[in-house]
Amino acid sequence: MERFHIEGPNRLSGEVRASGAKNAALPALAACLLAEGTVHLERVPKVRDIRTMCRLLEHLGAEVTESETGFELTPNGEGQPGEAPYELVKTMRASVLVLGPLLARRGRARVSLPGGCAIGVRPIDQHLAGLEALGAEVELEHGYVEVRARQLVGARFRFGVPTVTGTENLLMAAVLARGTTVLENCAREPEIADLAALLNAMGARISGAGEDRIEIEGVTSLGGARHRVIADRIEGGTYLIGAALTGGHVHLRDAEAADLAPLLEKLAENGVEVSKTDDGIEVRCTGPLKARDVITSPHPGFPTDLQAQYMALMTQARGTATVCETVFENRFQHVPELMRMGADIQIHGRVAKIQGQTPLSGANVMATDLRASACLVLAGLAAEGETVVHRIYHLDRGYEGMELKLQALGAKVERRS
Ligand code: EPZ
Repeated sequence: MERFHIEGPNRLSGEVRASGAKNAALPALAACLLAEGTVHLERVPKVRDIRTMCRLLEHLGAEVTESETGFELTPNGEGQPGEAPYELVKTMRASVLVLGPLLARRGRARVSLPGGCAIGVRPIDQHLAGLEALGAEVELEHGYVEVRARQLVGARFRFGVPTVTGTENLLMAAVLARGTTVLENCAREPEIADLAALLNAMGARISGAGEDRIEIEGVTSLGGARHRVIADRIEGGTYLIGAALTGGHVHLRDAEAADLAPLLEKLAENGVEVSKTDDGIEVRCTGPLKARDVITSPHPGFPTDLQAQYMALMTQARGTATVCETVFENRFQHVPELMRMGADIQIHGRVAKIQGQTPLSGANVMATDLRASACLVLAGLAAEGETVVHRIYHLDRGYEGMELKLQALGAKVERRS
């Protein structure tokens, strides 16, 4: 079990380069199963979830090699039944992203049902209803979902709730369906448009990705392609919040300001200086932080994946801020740990009320999920004394070399086991 030892308080200043987005690279890797050729993916982040997805693809017959420019994937085994076993799926829910491509390319797929996780139940009913709309037969038994279809047929389908991986699964199934598919109430996260860009480079005919209505004209086959994954807006946003929280000055390079608009607008309201640069975003904290409320919602709303990090920021803002989490039902597990560091937070259902400005003191804290871990690391940077963040394997799922990036920004953080 590895831990982060952080000495605070410490100001973050300097330059940090965003890595490729984990949540864009995961669907992009799954999409390679659709190709009748080799796909080259660049800027894939070297994080644990990516390694898990590559293991799953190899289990499904794909050939995965890593070169210095990125990953090369050649799917084989289209004759083999595609199965994503429990042992792999239980470590990463995003394994469900192989459902759509396997169904489209091989006519069948068997995937262990992803259980819930720390932040919520996270059902996949919308994924399955969408695949049924395209003509798939869906069976649930022994903790697995089995989908079959000799030939998927284009259809119109409206999501009951905007779902990121649900939209991605349906995109990857519809590209090889016969005829046209229209998806409505789609998720609009930037990672969706990035997946569509890859699929179109492979020969698909998708229009409207990134909006709530997407049209897909089915084609008979997809070829190889070369694609550079977009920057990770959540990783980048985490460092920008760290700059504001520690009264620092950080230049996030290789980042797309438009994808971070909801956070940048909020930081400006908090009284932080935010400016676009030629290849990124600069944040400078020049005075006291103002408490401002946040409500998380699907893109283009404030991202739920930055909620915990923003809450750490509000512990140092002047005044009272409320944070309302509308996307997941149990995403406040960082709160008790923040309170052990001295934060003054009350929870009423989906709303947390943060009374700032409370001095934080370093403590032993426990990470429970990926973004809660990031929140505790940020809090440790602002706290007086030593903070030890335990179970940082959660962090390693989605943050590439976090301690190295923080050290480069002047933080006193060490990884110990
Ligand atoms: C994606 O998860 C991300 N993961 C999550 O990031 C992110 O928090 C989430 O989108 C929301 O932005 C990846 O992209 C790999 P959803 P996903 O389906 O697709 C409900 C991180 O930290 N729902 O958009 O699983 C669901 O319960 C992770 O990197 C249904 O009811 O999220 C939730 O309340 C955490 N039925 C809401 O929709 C369904 O069939 C949004 O979930 C699907 C979803």
